[in-house]
Amino acid sequence: MSQNISTPTRRSNVTAALFTSATDEWGTPQEFFDVLDAEFHFTLDPCATPSSAKCDRYFTKKVDGLAQPWSGRVFMNPPYGRVIGAWLRKAWQESQQGATIVCLIPARTDPVYWHDYVMRAAEVRFVRGRLRFDDQDGGRRNSAPFPSVVVVFRPDSQGPPVVSAMARVTGEAEVA
Ligand SMILES: C[S@@+](CC[C@H](N)C(=O)[O-])C[C@H]1O[C@@H](n2cnc3c(N)ncnc32)[C@H](O)[C@@H]1O
Repeated sequence: MSQNISTPTRRSNVTAALFTSATDEWGTPQEFFDVLDAEFHFTLDPCATPSSAKCDRYFTKKVDGLAQPWSGRVFMNPPYGRVIGAWLRKAWQESQQGATIVCLIPARTDPVYWHDYVMRAAEVRFVRGRLRFDDQDGGRRNSAPFPSVVVVFRPDSQGPPVVSAMARVTGEAEVA
C-alpha cells in the first residue's frame, strides 16, 4: 500500500503547544524573572494581564502593547502564537529608539523573525532544561514541551548576538 509521506497528518506536540489559543498565558516563573530583574531592574511589562504582570507598569491586550511606545528596561514574554514575530519586530524597533528589551521566547531558530530580528540582538542566552511556566490561574504547569531562550536587545546592538547559556532556577549550575 502506498502512502503520501509528504502530507502532514497531524501537527507535532510542540507546534500544537505554541499555536493553540490557550497559549497566550505561558506566565514567566517568578523565580526565573527575579534572576533577570536583579540584573536589569525592569520598568515595563508590555504584554500581560493585571494578575500576570511582572512590573508595576504594564500593557494588556485591551490597550495593545504593540501599539504603545516602550521605554526604559522592558521584560517581554510575548504571546507565543503566530503574532510572536510582530513582538520581536517591535522589540527590535524600540531598542533602536533607546530601550533595553529582554525577551523570553521559545528557542526556535528557523522562523523568519529569528533571522530578521534575534540575529541583530546583543545576546541570546539559551536556557538549560525546560521551564515550568505559570498558567492563567497562577498555577504551575508541567515542564514546557519546548526549550526557551532569553534574547537581549540593547540600544547599541546590531548583532550578531553573543551566545551563552543560563540556568532555569537559582542555584542550578550554568554552562559556559
Ligand atoms: C506569555 S504571557 C506573559 C505574561 C506575563 N507578562 C509574564 O511574563 O508572566 C503573554 C501575555 O500577553 C498578553 N497579550 C496578548 N496580546 C497582547 C497585546 N496585544 N497587548 C498586550 N498584552 C497582550 C496575554 O494576555 C498574556 O497575558
